[in-house]
Amino acid sequence: MNLTDEIRLYGLIGDPVTGSRSPWIHNTIFNALGLKAAYLAFHVEPTRLGASIAGFRAIGMGGFNITIPHKQTAIGHLDALDPFAEKLGAVNTVAITPEGLIGYNTDGPGLISVLRRKIGAIEDKKVLILGAGGAARGIAGSLLFNGVKDVGICNRTWTKADALIRDLEIFGKAHIVDRENFKDYDLVINTTSVGMYPFEDATPVDIKYLHPEADVCDIVYKPRRTRLIREAEAAGHRVIFGIDMLIEQAVLAEKIWFNLTDEQVDHARELIHTEL
Ligand code: ATR
Repeated sequence: MNLTDEIRLYGLIGDPVTGSRSPWIHNTIFNALGLKAAYLAFHVEPTRLGASIAGFRAIGMGGFNITIPHKQTAIGHLDALDPFAEKLGAVNTVAITPEGLIGYNTDGPGLISVLRRKIGAIEDKKVLILGAGGAARGIAGSLLFNGVKDVGICNRTWTKADALIRDLEIFGKAHIVDRENFKDYDLVINTTSVGMYPFEDATPVDIKYLHPEADVCDIVYKPRRTRLIREAEAAGHRVIFGIDMLIEQAVLAEKIWFNLTDEQVDHARELIHTEL
């Protein structure tokens, strides 16, 4: 890339940020689409969050992504939120505009977009979410926000599942599901860290408990084929990879920053898939 004075800066703030795929994904998209932009990762500890965001604004950056542990606390430093991010209370993408700093959340919407492309309409699907952490919250909230009527949650710690369901009431009604009822679900999404590198032998659920026609999605993307995905494929389930959600949340952020056309978005997505 030619770093001229026309280049606008974008970035990621988090603690930690080492190992993040975001710089590679975004710089690859910038190059592919000929955008005059560069993307860097910034390690920002919580005590320096406000100063960092003020600095981003002051130097006229184009926008930035936010990762753990700043997704909620960053909101106090922004000027406006899109309706979904506001309801969820968590932001992962900020656009720096003449009107100020606008916060969005593309994590859950990224998965929704992948699901719509891979399995079609989702509103009438019965969706089971494994896990009740931050990722589960964004995904369950997004599903309810997008009109999915049956969202079930199963978590190792029941009290956390209960608390999450109460938290989600602003979006709609989710409910607890136990293993005996897993077979009622059309789509199962693992949001736990079970199966993530280096614990690749672990799986959050034995595939025999699922409906044989259920679609199986794992948001863990390292390894790309988790044990859950491998076993689901072997049993003939349609599978949705975590890497697709990671790519899509980045593509949606680019769409916000650059007002990309659908053709540009398709091109960016395909290119990332072939290069990754
Ligand atoms: P994230 O923000 O990525 O969702 P998190 O908030 O720490 O991370 O949530 C991790 C999720 O993975 C939780 O649902 C956690 O279950 P608990 O609420 O019972 O802790 C789940 N999880 C992590 N390790 C697990 C394991 N070995 N078995 C089952 N669930 C596990």
